Amino acid sequence: MQPDDEVCLCFHVTRRKIENYLRIHRPSRVSQLSQCGGAGTGCGWCVPFLRRYFDQAQTGADALGLTKEQYANQRAAYIQRGKVHEPAPGQPDPSGAPAAEPPTPLQEP
Ligand code: FES
Repeated sequence: MQPDDEVCLCFHVTRRKIENYLRIHRPSRVSQLSQCGGAGTGCGWCVPFLRRYFDQAQTGADALGLTKEQYANQRAAYIQRGKVHEPAPGQPDPSGAPAAEPPTPLQEP
């Protein structure tokens, strides 16, 4: 994965954002990475990978060892297996599709 590749495909959070968040904020728990653009709070696919980046920040080890394409393909298989949490209202579709527009208020005639 390159620095500008998205780790959280639901919220378009890149590896660079995650690594910078870890370096600057030094979270004590992996769940605090949700404060980095909502990473990990959509379909849940990236949570184990966020943990690896968290662990990498603690130990300095290489985190993923996957290409961008391998990562996205593995997530697509994850989605197809139905390992998806429903996104909160107004959040992007876990399949990566853009969020639907919210309904517009009724217009007065
Ligand atoms: S890819 Fe991160 S929550 Fe879906």
